[in-house]
Amino acid sequence: MVEDEYTDIGSDDRDSALGDDVSLLTMSVTSSVYNYRYEHGRRYHAYSEGKYLVPNDEPEKDRLDLQHHTFRLTADGALYIAPISKSNVQNVLDVGTGTGIWAIEFAEEHPQASVLGTDLSPIQPELLPPNCSFLIDDADHDWIFHQPFDFIHARAMMAAFKDWPRFLDQSFTNLKPGGYLELQEFHLPPQCLTNPSLNVSLSSSPAESPHPLSPNPIIQWGQYMSTAGSRIGLDFRVASNFGPLLQSAGFVDIHATHFKWPYGPWAKGEKMKMLGRFAAQDLEDGLQASVLGLFTKVLGWTREEVEVFLSSVRKEIREGCEGIWQPVVFWYARRPLPGEAIKPSQTVTTQEITLEPDENYLTTRRQVREERTMAEKDVERTDSAVDAQPSDAV
Ligand SMILES: C[S@@+](CC[C@H](N)C(=O)[O-])C[C@H]1O[C@@H](n2cnc3c(N)ncnc32)[C@H](O)[C@@H]1O
Repeated sequence: MVEDEYTDIGSDDRDSALGDDVSLLTMSVTSSVYNYRYEHGRRYHAYSEGKYLVPNDEPEKDRLDLQHHTFRLTADGALYIAPISKSNVQNVLDVGTGTGIWAIEFAEEHPQASVLGTDLSPIQPELLPPNCSFLIDDADHDWIFHQPFDFIHARAMMAAFKDWPRFLDQSFTNLKPGGYLELQEFHLPPQCLTNPSLNVSLSSSPAESPHPLSPNPIIQWGQYMSTAGSRIGLDFRVASNFGPLLQSAGFVDIHATHFKWPYGPWAKGEKMKMLGRFAAQDLEDGLQASVLGLFTKVLGWTREEVEVFLSSVRKEIREGCEGIWQPVVFWYARRPLPGEAIKPSQTVTTQEITLEPDENYLTTRRQVREERTMAEKDVERTDSAVDAQPSDAV
């Protein structure tokens, strides 16, 4: 990444207002990043074209903003869990910022900080807090920033990065000593709490050990995603492996909190019910975006095959996804101070957030489903009885 190649979306209105001091290179990048590519009715990024297989259009932007609130709800409203100094944090980087919503809200909550969000897509708003800006940048390129950061954040990037060790190295190098990196990431496939026979292993990679398909369509979605990802070097299970990767990059005070997003309101507790509603909506809204590129280009499915499969997943979501949950792991880690003694046994800590089924809710739901099935059978019986009548008897 070269700073001249940046498109500073925060201070640029993309048209005739570009001042004389804007270089030709910047202007050419400015217009070319809007040369979006369209496929199957969805819009994709232009800068480093073809790299990221998920769309950047309005439905995806809306979904990302909904997902942002789901992440905030997960951490009881917090934008991060790293123990940074709220009043002292100065320089902050959000890599793969998407719509920029995390960076904007961080800037609003930390008015003394200067917050920079980077992304392949110029999909951030132009009206910004004065301490927030955005750059079009490919995080796979070499990072050349003028100042080191106190805090680097990257969220939901498992479909973006193939070379996590390089991303972690660049983050380490661009942090001040004592600065923190936070990663908030999904881990595929989802799991089932109430019926373990639906589950497939969370740990091994799909390439090493292909598992039979789960009978549950939502878990199948995660399995197909993992398989397709692994064929092109994306690891949708990397969220479990950040510990050793962060250690190898030189980080200390590494901490993981394992959250669980129930899909639907089947889990116990008001927070979990709300989280479940948001997570199910996020899953449904993002289904086509998540698979269209991957399944057609990598698994060789036709558009029709994708849509038929997705309708089975949507049906499962609408039927309540009983017991199905999504692992979501928040990691933070610190760049050590110069000369700091590192104690290997203290470098990784973990916390597990529990999830319990709401048995009353599940019992009521099962009763309603049984009654509905019986009612449907009654209608079918009546229909066949009417069909069996001789036509002149009507
Ligand atoms: C799932 S979205 C997450 C957006 C944001 N972090 C959030 O949580 O709302 C992934 C984002 O990463 C961006 N991205 C993908 N590959 C990238 C790369 N190599 N460099 C920078 N951004 C990238 C995509 O354009 C997309 O906006």
